Amino acid sequence: MTGLTIWFTGLSGAGKSTIGQRVATELRERGLSVEVLDGDEVRQTLSAGLGFSKEDRDINIRRIGFVAELLTRNGVVAITAAISPYKDTRAEVRRRIGRFVEVYVSCSIDVLAERDVKGLYKRALAGEIDHFTGVSDPYEAPEAPDVVVDSGTQTVDESVAAVLAAIDASGLLPEPAPRG
Ligand code: ADX
Repeated sequence: MTGLTIWFTGLSGAGKSTIGQRVATELRERGLSVEVLDGDEVRQTLSAGLGFSKEDRDINIRRIGFVAELLTRNGVVAITAAISPYKDTRAEVRRRIGRFVEVYVSCSIDVLAERDVKGLYKRALAGEIDHFTGVSDPYEAPEAPDVVVDSGTQTVDESVAAVLAAIDASGLLPEPAPRG
């Protein structure tokens, strides 16, 4: 019995948690044990007190990676949803975990600023937030993710289906039983 880490990366508000939670629901329906490590939740618990410097973000990502590794080797599907902006740090956790599917949730800044669910883009674009990812801080997009979804042009259903297809194509989970 071996698990898997499904690592979502992408800008704040791109839809990592929404899509990740929906993928979790689908996989639970297949009888799998699934845990979601949501970025905002981790920052209130495991990573409380950390900020947004490169050093602090790397610590945050390594902590999430550590927990995902423990879950994965115990047969759980770990779904992570943090920005994880740095390519090298993502590569490091991927190496450690091994059984890993990287999902890039792409979305243009224009769409994110328009949505602006938390009101952060407006403030960041006005120069009021230093080091805001994608505006005043780097985001290193994955060069070879296992799957790319675009929440600006796809529906949530379409993105969820694309992620599930990539998971199935990876061969890292048992094939789902045919429906119906
Ligand atoms: S990460 O870079 O360390 O992976 P993480 O996903 O945990 O980031 O946290 C991102 C969330 O923190 C965003 O969705 C947003 O709500 C909030 N946030 C506050 N300040 C910043 C900032 N400077 N850059 C990005 N996100 C920020």
